[in-house]
Amino acid sequence: MPVSYKELGFVNTKEMFAKAMQGGYAVPAYNFNNMEQLQAIITACVRSRSPVILQVSKGARDYANSTLLRWMGKGAIEMMKEMKEGPVPVALHLDHGDSFELCKSCIDSGFSSVMIDGSHLPYEENASLTKKVVEYAHQYDVTVEGELGVLAGIEDEVQAEHSHYTDPAQVEDFVKKTGVDSLAISIGTSHGAYKFKVKPGESVPPLRFDILEQVEKRIPGFPIVLHGASSVLQDYIKMINQYGGKMDNAVGIPEEQLRKAAKSAVCKINIDSDGRLVMTAIIRKIFSEKPSEFDPRKYLGPAREELVKMYISKNETVLGSAGRY
Ligand code: G3H
Ligand code: 13P
Ligand code: ZN
Repeated sequence: MPVSYKELGFVNTKEMFAKAMQGGYAVPAYNFNNMEQLQAIITACVRSRSPVILQVSKGARDYANSTLLRWMGKGAIEMMKEMKEGPVPVALHLDHGDSFELCKSCIDSGFSSVMIDGSHLPYEENASLTKKVVEYAHQYDVTVEGELGVLAGIEDEVQAEHSHYTDPAQVEDFVKKTGVDSLAISIGTSHGAYKFKVKPGESVPPLRFDILEQVEKRIPGFPIVLHGASSVLQDYIKMINQYGGKMDNAVGIPEEQLRKAAKSAVCKINIDSDGRLVMTAIIRKIFSEKPSEFDPRKYLGPAREELVKMYISKNETVLGSAGRY
């Protein structure tokens, strides 16, 4: 018997995106794999009055156990009700679903939104797989994100070493054919902490706003998603390197470019790596400064506090989603 996300207290992305489109901001989609990340995301979004999409990847399900993660999501909804600021809308979303079966399993177990990532497949195969997921998901009022174009990073495990920008000529047909609720596109972002090969002092190439504009012209008012949107915050890279880490030449997408994108039809911005960097930097610092510390609460707790600050700052200055609820 499928579990309804509505009973768990989640919402799908439909209304979130409609408001974001109208208000010229993007909804943050933050990944979580453990309790501290989840607490930080919820705390930050409640405090800054931002809607939020909690993202669970296939890797997160394998790492933390899919049943536990789902109930952690439900636990977060309950925790939010007890917070003095009051709740904000939360969607539970499958990030980079790679098969119909995985999407179905998430839909049946209480996810309010799923991504089917067929971007590495030939166009027609991507369209038919996406359509199949949409037909199943829409029976339960679950929203679906599709993808056209390939980002380098996680998706290149499947196919390409380099990104292939989205072809604007395909988007209208894809949206019509599949019935998807939102579309991830490739305009120069990529997954992970090493997004561009630049020499020190050189600036990173700008996002392809020209492609985004052409996409918007073809499907006006349709919600667009940006993956691979961490800025690879340099303060944390410095801290990681200062305290024994080695992350040379790690660079991301400048925050001003993301803010510009968030004002357009981009309604969802995916950020995972920046959270990873914050946790790593703080834990490294504590291990280095207090080598006798062995209580996980004494290093995971400060990492969680720093994550809250980082997510609030993203909501306020990058996504523009703060203060919307
Ligand atoms: O886009 C990928 C996300 O950052 C999730 O990464 O598959 O390592 O959990 P993961
Ligand atoms: P980053 O690696 O840039 O954080 O991207 C995350 C992402 O796209 C999750 O789907
Ligand atoms: Zn992604």
